[in-house]
Amino acid sequence: MLRRLHHEQPESFAFTEANLQWAKTQIAKFPEGRQASACISLLWRAQEQEGWLSKPAIETVAQMLDMAYIRVLEVATFYFMFQLQPVGSVAHIQVCGTTTCMICGAEDLIAVCKEKIAPKAMTLSADGKFSWEEVECLGACTNAPMAAIGKDYYEDLTVEGFAALLDKLAAGEVPVPGPQNGRYAAEPLGGPKVLTDFDAAERAPHNASAQRAVDIGETIKRIDGTEVPIVAPWMR
Ligand code: FES
Repeated sequence: MLRRLHHEQPESFAFTEANLQWAKTQIAKFPEGRQASACISLLWRAQEQEGWLSKPAIETVAQMLDMAYIRVLEVATFYFMFQLQPVGSVAHIQVCGTTTCMICGAEDLIAVCKEKIAPKAMTLSADGKFSWEEVECLGACTNAPMAAIGKDYYEDLTVEGFAALLDKLAAGEVPVPGPQNGRYAAEPLGGPKVLTDFDAAERAPHNASAQRAVDIGETIKRIDGTEVPIVAPWMR
């Protein structure tokens, strides 16, 4: 896919004070002269702040890391996790369409996106809150079909469950990420076959990555800066 900067660009970009402080701690993790190692982290935070990566944002990251602009542009245009044009203000849905997900129903999920969001990928919904695209394998094939929303994965999706998930997002909720069929992680659908001598009551309610999303209390970054708590099952 040809990935280019959007034809309309904002005048400027600046990290919020909180994000600036966070960015400085990321840069400080690396030895002198190796600040470029923080490139993806800073681009990702800029995207979380604004919803997408503008030219001024890429320039800002380049200046902060003492990198040539073209080097940072190369990173931003290479990875499709970076959005180079405005996306839905509530959520940009990335549906995996690669083999495993395709076999398990990705095309049906895409049909839901076409019906509920917009007929064409990378097009804003009528209210501007959502957009979607089909992407290549996101590495969660065991839990196919799946979609990435912001930094989180929603896995083991069904047409009905996915449509309900979009409805919840539209209503201002942020459903708990991870498997959506009751599965804890990537164990067999019928339950674990090995390592079964553990007390399920003593473990965290969700697997580590879903639990992390719940613990930090936010998942999808909203363009207006509001943070909506995740609706965890025990909070309902
Ligand atoms: S094929 Fe969809 S996550 Fe790998």
